[in-house]
Amino acid sequence: MDKEQRVKLIRRLEKELNYKRFIHTLGVAGTAAALAMRCGADMEKAELAGLLHDCAKCMSPEKMRTICIEARMPLSEPERNNPALLHSKAGRVLARMEYGVEDEEILNAIAWHTTGRPAMTLLEKIIFIADYIEPGRNAAQRLPEIRSAAFRDPDEALIMILSDTLRYLRVSGAAVDSMTQKTYDYYRSRVHAAAPYRTDGSAPEREENI
Ligand SMILES: [Fe+2]
Ligand SMILES: [Fe+2]
Repeated sequence: MDKEQRVKLIRRLEKELNYKRFIHTLGVAGTAAALAMRCGADMEKAELAGLLHDCAKCMSPEKMRTICIEARMPLSEPERNNPALLHSKAGRVLARMEYGVEDEEILNAIAWHTTGRPAMTLLEKIIFIADYIEPGRNAAQRLPEIRSAAFRDPDEALIMILSDTLRYLRVSGAAVDSMTQKTYDYYRSRVHAAAPYRTDGSAPEREENI
């Protein structure tokens, strides 16, 4: 993506997204680029995936479902019924069809940015983490620790985010997508340094719209 295409994309997103989502998007793109620099990943891909990760977020659930069905995108039951999950899969479809992204790594980073998945690529991890820690986020209790971990050990940050997300979903009575649990189990079994669920029974603060 050259300079002109980058400006064009940002201007387009400004029109397609509401103000809050647009500012969040810029935060995710910048944070993803910084994490890519830190981890030796492709900075341009990280920025582009960050810019597009929520490209479907401001669509109606009906529209999101329709574009997924038309693109034959497989959806789990929770994804079909929960816009907070559905927008990731719809975003993958939209990024390819409307924004012309062909790179599978970028498309998968968009598709899995809400739940994660076992054995994520580095780019998938970067977008998942950047979405949680971008500078506009302020509700999650462990944000300072998670932000610090993200630049020290992304897998540790990943586990902290998944752990807090699962806890938040359970305490708030929201449906837990099995992929979020699978992702947590996968990384928890590989990294032992991260903190497990809180033992004091408190729910971590968390912003609802990932
Ligand atoms: Fe999202
Ligand atoms: Fe997001």
